[in-house]
Amino acid sequence: MEKVIFDCDPGHDDAIAIILAASKISSLNIEAITTVAGNVEVEKNTLNALKVADIIGLEGVPVVQGAEGPLFRKREIAEEIHGETGLDGPLLPKHPSTKQTEGHAVDLIIDKVLGSDKAITLVPTGPLTNIALAMIKEPKIIPKIKEIVLMGGGTFGNWTPAAEFNIYVDAEAAKVVFESGAPVTMFGLDVTHQAIATDEIVEDLSRVDNAVADFVVELLRFFSKTYKEVFGFDGGPIHDACTVAYLMDPSIFDFKQVHVDIETKGEFTYGMTAVDHLGVTEKEPNVKFAHDLDAKKFWGLFRDALESYGM
Ligand code: RIB
Ligand code: CA
Repeated sequence: MEKVIFDCDPGHDDAIAIILAASKISSLNIEAITTVAGNVEVEKNTLNALKVADIIGLEGVPVVQGAEGPLFRKREIAEEIHGETGLDGPLLPKHPSTKQTEGHAVDLIIDKVLGSDKAITLVPTGPLTNIALAMIKEPKIIPKIKEIVLMGGGTFGNWTPAAEFNIYVDAEAAKVVFESGAPVTMFGLDVTHQAIATDEIVEDLSRVDNAVADFVVELLRFFSKTYKEVFGFDGGPIHDACTVAYLMDPSIFDFKQVHVDIETKGEFTYGMTAVDHLGVTEKEPNVKFAHDLDAKKFWGLFRDALESYGM
């Protein structure tokens, strides 16, 4: 069982990533879920994480709140995509039964990584503030991190023309993480925009007969609606789920080793992941960059994971 810590800002696609990871066909062991300010305020992201834990019956997994905002910049949120609650669409109980674990996410990440008998995989699917703070506070965790499998960045932006939201919200934190020396596997927009939940796919998933699948379909219907309205897409790209699909079946994706720098100064390029495809910087590659996915395999895994909740 691979040990993973989710650091997230649920968020529809974060929620779906956790649901895939906790499915009966997954061999991932969720050590903890930590939350960070991102899609919406961190308090709402934490509440959403607790509600997801309720729905999938996740027991004994600490859900711990983290950073309320980026290291230096003013916080920005993405309510227009995820709604006022950050998980708009499904009707959810106001108060989850799963209780938040006291403490701060950064301390939990440090304690879990240092205390583990085997290297832990970090799966950040929101801004990288918590991960950067943990590395700054306790650099000893860096050699004990097996892999950082993150959703963020790309060769184009969705928050500015140059920058993807997760990186843009806290580019200084992303710089710390990308320069840390920990192995980074990056799922940017180049590949996550190939994981579009079209009406046809959502219709097919709606035939999976269990409560968790029903919840995911409601998430997808809302998420797809906003992507159709805001970006004119055929459906919602379930960005964050790519991280878990990779951990469950790496053969779904194609990768290349590249050097990636994070822009923290540009007037028009702040938050850009400068992906050196041609090696022109002659810098050592620091990122395993996902550039393609096999959509048939991706959605097949996705459906199998949802089916497993009915077994
Ligand atoms: O740009 C997409 C990313 O921003 C996803 O992680 C989504 O959940 C939001 O956090
Ligand atoms: Ca996210």
